[in-house]
Amino acid sequence: MKEYPKEPTGDLVIKTVAMPNNTNSNGDIFGGWVLSQMDLGGGIIAKTYSPSGRAVTVAIESMAFINPVKVGESVSCYAKVIKFGRSSMKIEIETWVYNYAARTHKIVTSGIFTYVAVDEHGKPVSIKNTEIQHDIK
Ligand SMILES: CC(C)(COP(=O)(O)OP(=O)(O)OC[C@H]1O[C@@H](n2cnc3c(N)ncnc32)[C@H](O)[C@@H]1OP(=O)(O)O)[C@@H](O)C(=O)NCCC(=O)NCCS
Repeated sequence: MKEYPKEPTGDLVIKTVAMPNNTNSNGDIFGGWVLSQMDLGGGIIAKTYSPSGRAVTVAIESMAFINPVKVGESVSCYAKVIKFGRSSMKIEIETWVYNYAARTHKIVTSGIFTYVAVDEHGKPVSIKNTEIQHDIK
C-alpha cells in the first residue's frame, strides 16, 4: 500500500473551506471537488514554468482517498515539481484537511498530475529556458 507523509510537503498552493454546496447526497464532500482544487493548485505552479504562461493537464495518476473531507474543514493543497520533461512536468500534489473543533490535520489524498506547457495555439512548448518568477503574488 502507498505510504503517505505524516506532514505536508511542498508549497501551499490552495487553501479554502469545504462548503455545503460541494457535498453529495450523503452530505460528504465530493471527491471530484477535491480533485479540481488539486488541479487548480498544480496549474498555478505549472504556469510559472510555461513561457506563454499557459499549461494544460494531460494526465493524473491513480489516486485513493484515505480520509473524508467534512463541511467546514479547511482544505489545503501542497504541490512540488518532481520531474521536468521538455514541455511537461510532473507535479506531486497532496490534500490535507484541518478540523477546527478537533484541532487535527489529516492527509486526504495525494497524486501526481502531469501538465504540459503550451503556446497560444495549444501546442506543446519547451520549458527549458523559461525565466521563472519565484515572487508571484
Ligand atoms: C497536452 C497536449 C497539448 C499534448 O499534445 P501532444 O500532441 O500529445 O504532444 P506531444 O506528444 O508532443 O507530448 C507533449 C508532452 O506531453 C507528454 N504527454 C503526452 N501525453 C501524456 C500522457 N498521457 N501522460 C503523460 N505525459 C504525456 C509527452 O510525454 C510530452 O512530454 P515532454 O515534452 O516533456 O517530452 C494535448 O494532448 C492536449 O491538448 N490535451 C488536452 C489537454 C486538456 O485540455 N486538458 C484539460 C482537460 S479538461
